[in-house]
Amino acid sequence: MMYRECHRVASKPWGGRFEGRTDRRVEEFTESISFDRRLFEHDIRGSIAHARMLAQVNLLTATECDKIVQGLSEIQAEIETGRFAYALEREDIHMHIESALIDKLGDVGRKLHTARSRNDQVATDLKLWTRDALDRVDARLEALQRAFLGAAERYRDVILPGYTHLQRAQPVLAAHYFLAYVEKLARDRSRVADCRKRLNVLPLGAAALAGTTLPIDRAHVAEALGFDGVAANSLDVSSDRDFALESAFVLSLIATHLSGWAEEWVIWSTQEFSFLALPDAICTGSSIMPQKKNPDVLELIRGRSARVLGALQTLLVLVKGLPLAYNRDLQEDKPPLFDAFDTVEACLDLAAVVVDGAKLRADRINERLDEGYLDATTLMEYLIKEGVPQRTAHEVIGHLVGLCEQRGLKRLADLPDDDFARANPKLGPGVKKVLGVDNAVKAFQSYGSTAPGEVERQLEAWRARIL
Ligand code: ARG
Repeated sequence: MMYRECHRVASKPWGGRFEGRTDRRVEEFTESISFDRRLFEHDIRGSIAHARMLAQVNLLTATECDKIVQGLSEIQAEIETGRFAYALEREDIHMHIESALIDKLGDVGRKLHTARSRNDQVATDLKLWTRDALDRVDARLEALQRAFLGAAERYRDVILPGYTHLQRAQPVLAAHYFLAYVEKLARDRSRVADCRKRLNVLPLGAAALAGTTLPIDRAHVAEALGFDGVAANSLDVSSDRDFALESAFVLSLIATHLSGWAEEWVIWSTQEFSFLALPDAICTGSSIMPQKKNPDVLELIRGRSARVLGALQTLLVLVKGLPLAYNRDLQEDKPPLFDAFDTVEACLDLAAVVVDGAKLRADRINERLDEGYLDATTLMEYLIKEGVPQRTAHEVIGHLVGLCEQRGLKRLADLPDDDFARANPKLGPGVKKVLGVDNAVKAFQSYGSTAPGEVERQLEAWRARIL
């Protein structure tokens, strides 16, 4: 009688206490196989480690364990080669794989879920997946660092106008500019590493929420799966998605960095700026205006950041009201997390393509380098070195810039010596040594500045760190 009742909710591992079938609409609403199938490899990796541990503590015989490991490996091959049958009634990837194992092995397969719940299983699978994804992101961040470093070396002799408020400010070496992004990406990488470190604690063994009465060895599983330790509180871990949220934040910051850079290069590639030539291979045309060549890749990198920031927001809102421990809401963590990783990985790949392909138009940049009085601050600092208080020096140079503007002179160096001397007696013939962008750049001294020697040192240091 009992046995027959179970069969009425065919193939549901949790069907024992149910009498009626699940409404099809409920199956459609609650399924996660449509997206969590991406976890198959990690689910199988986790299950193999779990089975080996069960054998270790005599909850499985060695033969049973071998059969399970063999069966799981076959299932993995079936999934990888597209021979695996998915069915909505099997809900998620965990039940698909376990059901397929039971189909193969019968009662032996029915032992795999010993001392385990889908709650600690899904947390483990998602951590394993996220850990691999973080490693992929780190490799891509490094590749993009390498691309920026390459550009820094290619254009080491070019001087750029540096901007604040998108207004011309002071001259900077192009190498200094490109290394700025290498630094941002280095911080992104350190956040990835940090996030990975905190993630790397094993949830499996927490079972549903309270642990298990069975004599499991969690350290054994942790070691097999490359975790640094075992989560200490079963209630905490089965509900913990901090690693997903932290990853989404780390990805959001990467996407934000990429978006700001993309915006800058969209501006730089306009005819008005003409700092950058983007090769045909990374541009698209207009269907109505035959002359157009648009920087769509950069625009999409900027635009896709919205999805990543959205994913972070989704995850924060998802978990904010959840009581301990597992709640089905948590199933909703995967689509935004997967999407954030997919998006950032694609953006990082394409960013490297753009950085490798884009050409800095040194001729066009040089033509207008005399505009904007980029040497004004250097001249002010010259006065400070002559003993003039900073506020006074600022006023004096501001006045000279005003004179240039009144007379339509583009460069401070175009002012006659008299005007310098009148503005401040300390502005003698020595000023010529710091005027003009070349001199202005050479005058820099401080650590981390755009001083040629300093930039060279930073280049060397990065070259040694990035292979
Ligand atoms: N598909 C579920 C998820 O992704 C698996 C865990 C289900 N656990 C449960 N007790 N219903 O979260």
